[in-house]
Amino acid sequence: MDNAGMKRGIVIKDDWPGHSLDLFTYPEHYHKDIECVYIPHGVIMNRIERLAHYIMDDFGDKNIMVLCVLKGGYKFCADLVEFIKVLGRNSNKYLETRVEFIRLKSYLNDQSTEDLHIIGSSDLSFLRGKSVLIVEAIVDTGKTMKALLKHVETFEPKMVKVAGLLVKRVPNMAQSLTDYVGFEIPNHFVVGYALDYNEYFRDLNHICVISNTGKMKYKV
Ligand code: HPA
Ligand code: MG
Repeated sequence: MDNAGMKRGIVIKDDWPGHSLDLFTYPEHYHKDIECVYIPHGVIMNRIERLAHYIMDDFGDKNIMVLCVLKGGYKFCADLVEFIKVLGRNSNKYLETRVEFIRLKSYLNDQSTEDLHIIGSSDLSFLRGKSVLIVEAIVDTGKTMKALLKHVETFEPKMVKVAGLLVKRVPNMAQSLTDYVGFEIPNHFVVGYALDYNEYFRDLNHICVISNTGKMKYKV
């Protein structure tokens, strides 16, 4: 299977302007708050189906312990696990998936803060000896992911892989941490498909670029 497509994902170039808003449907209340539809929901879904194929091939017939990183990863995780189940049913290679959740927070407004917090359950002893798939919506500098991987490793899982829907092209980007990449995107702040700006925009299906109006309106 094509390893570049797995590791780098669909590469979105710096000059990609996104799709005009009037070509798609989206919640009316966000009308002035987004610039463009950056990645349409249907494209996201099909890419996730592809990632599910890669994962099925790698994990073989084992059980997968899925570790969903909340809150941004909830949609990606739900859709990814669903595709893994459907593919399993259709190929008689049914993978047993158990989903657990971990909550991290490191962003305020559109800026990364220094401190990484693991909120909620940090006792991950159920990972011992298991094949673990960490599911995260977005990986940029990898600071969060490195800290999480270190934490997970202390519970001695058999193997750990990372699925990132988006990897951001930032200086010192952390591509190598992510085994399954949906899309590699430029350094824009994006929202939608469970990605938030101060908790707003999670109810938007597409991944969109926030407008200045949106940034002002929902600033804390
Ligand atoms: N959008 C939402 N949350 C994020 C982003 C982003 O672009 N980067 C890191 N957390
Ligand atoms: Mg957030």
